[in-house]
Amino acid sequence: MTANVDWMQEAQNIHWYEPPTCLLDDSRPPFYRWYPDGTTNACYNALDFHVANGRADQAALIVDSPVTNYQRTYSYAQLLDAVAHCAGAMAANGVGMGDRVLIYMPMIAEAVIGMLACARLGAVHSVVFGGFASNELAVRIDDAEPSLILSASCGIEPSRVIAYKPLLDEAIDLAHHKPDCCIIVQRPDVVAEMLPGRDIAWIDAMADSTAHDCVPVPANHPLYILYTSGTTGQPKGVVRDTAGGIVALKWSMQSIYNVAPGEVFWAASDVGWVVGHSYIVYGPLFSGNTTLLYEGKPVGTPDAGAYWRVIEQHKVSVLFTAPTAFRAIRKEDPEASLMGSYDLESLRALFLAGERCDPDTLHWAERELAVPVIDHWWQTETGWPICANCLGIEALPVVPGSPARAVPGYDVTVLDEHGEPVETGTIGALVIKLPLPPGTFTTLWNAEERYEQAYFSRFPGYYETGDAGYIDESGYVFVMARTDDVINVAGHRLSTGAMEEVLAAHPDVAECAVIGVQDALKGQLPLGLIVLSDGVARNELDILAEVIASVRTSIGPVAAFKQCYVVKRLPKTRSGKILRATMRSIADGQAFKVPATIDDPVILDEIAALITNR
Ligand code: COA
Ligand code: AMP
Repeated sequence: MTANVDWMQEAQNIHWYEPPTCLLDDSRPPFYRWYPDGTTNACYNALDFHVANGRADQAALIVDSPVTNYQRTYSYAQLLDAVAHCAGAMAANGVGMGDRVLIYMPMIAEAVIGMLACARLGAVHSVVFGGFASNELAVRIDDAEPSLILSASCGIEPSRVIAYKPLLDEAIDLAHHKPDCCIIVQRPDVVAEMLPGRDIAWIDAMADSTAHDCVPVPANHPLYILYTSGTTGQPKGVVRDTAGGIVALKWSMQSIYNVAPGEVFWAASDVGWVVGHSYIVYGPLFSGNTTLLYEGKPVGTPDAGAYWRVIEQHKVSVLFTAPTAFRAIRKEDPEASLMGSYDLESLRALFLAGERCDPDTLHWAERELAVPVIDHWWQTETGWPICANCLGIEALPVVPGSPARAVPGYDVTVLDEHGEPVETGTIGALVIKLPLPPGTFTTLWNAEERYEQAYFSRFPGYYETGDAGYIDESGYVFVMARTDDVINVAGHRLSTGAMEEVLAAHPDVAECAVIGVQDALKGQLPLGLIVLSDGVARNELDILAEVIASVRTSIGPVAAFKQCYVVKRLPKTRSGKILRATMRSIADGQAFKVPATIDDPVILDEIAALITNR
């Protein structure tokens, strides 16, 4: 049992059109509904509320783009004005309450404006990360069926400019569902070709628009769908509802991150991920903070001092990023010599999440920054931290390798494969006792059965996180590994199953397996093994180049799929199960036990030699 929060009391801190009289409808587990009879609006709580309460001139959003050499600050009043006009433009193009709007954008202000404009109208946004390719985008278009798509002519990576519009056009061609309208931000670097009758330039759409007011929505109205990787190629459309998200995120800004309204909070992530939704856009704005949208990388834009420059220039109080960003900085500047040129006095804490924080990186960051470095654990599904050292409640001692204790509201337990609680310190499935707190996902879009089956069927009465780990005698949780085929590449969650589907579709591939192997920079990288069909006489290197290219074009560069090998057979048990875990241990140089039921031990030896010498 863990501490709890008086969620009805916390609900008093947000704006309601109709305050709720009921805290929780638990009549249909696992479909719990918080504040079921309330009426509110997320955009009102993010913007109008603050403009009406003395923050009109305070900075709401700072855009810092080293890749385009551009900066701009929006006050709360200016951001509200931009959002209200964007909502007006979307409404003029037929978007209303409950309609879906897909957002495929780089890290530009219009992405934030578009998200908030959807919330203003009660439309449901679905942001797709720019590093995903057309095929992934098409799958999401078909599932969400957006009436409108917001996009931009290009995204800018340090090494190249990526034209987004051709990717979007291809995705719309591939998809069965067609949007009525696309509003495109034309960036100076690339001019997108427009399809007359469907595409409108952002600037034109906004020029004619009138400001639209907030539409009151029921508390449990979906605020957004965010697709995340599961075990198959079909991503899971995580649905977050409105009121729970507002209450929980607002609570977390002060209780977990310990930032007061008015302070600058920087989540160095991307709006395409849950961190971007919760802690670039909604959380800081609900809480009256200044949030920062950074279009750049920790290194190379222009150097490993980029984060320190941003902290100094914008007086960042709390920074949130993934450990991989710090590994990248440390690799280029091991002594943090670039830090010396900047004044980091404003920084009070660094929060890390998205992947396990290795103690080495934690110690380096602690030593160089001299502020608390807090590892915290959460998921797209939960939307806000499950375990953390809640600096706004009580700072706990930092234990390297652990994201500390369960956050109030989450009752975290470890169960064995039979669903029985394990002894303290024993590894098992990390689960959370139901109900989950407000702000966590309420269903999967178009997939209620999958929601029940994927998360709640194995351990009745609990939410299955998909992570394995243990809890020590002080209640510290240690998150060790995924229990499914999800891997974590540079803090990005990816499905090896989805990559296997792409490899298997190659005409010369008879069988394949993709495993996640350890990587010093990105945490994990995918490694593929393919078995060629009988009679294929083509050059193996050509086939490998083709499958690598097809993962890049089908899933996207973000998959970082660059290692693949041809093998004679895959190691399996006699019942035909591929020994992925055994191969993973071999690749990572860890001790492993050859299962007694192995079909062909010789092939395992051959693969071990191949992947250990790679
Ligand atoms: N649009 C198009 N392509 C993109 C993209 C986007 N929005 N984001 C990434 N990509 C591409 C990159 O250009 C790269 O392509 P490449 O194979 O041609 O080099 C590929 O996808 C992988 O990108 P990324 O994961 O960013 O790796 P990287 O090698 O470019 O940079 C890090 C490594 C560690 C610097 C980077 O991952 C990083 O900054 N991570 C910060 C943490 C973070 O954002 N975590 C998110 C969750 S909190
Ligand atoms: P995502 O849904 O993309 O945020 O990915 C969630 C997954 O990332 C979790 O299920 C974990 O596997 C992993 N993860 C996130 N934060 C941590 C952390 N602090 N420690 C260990 N793993 C983490």
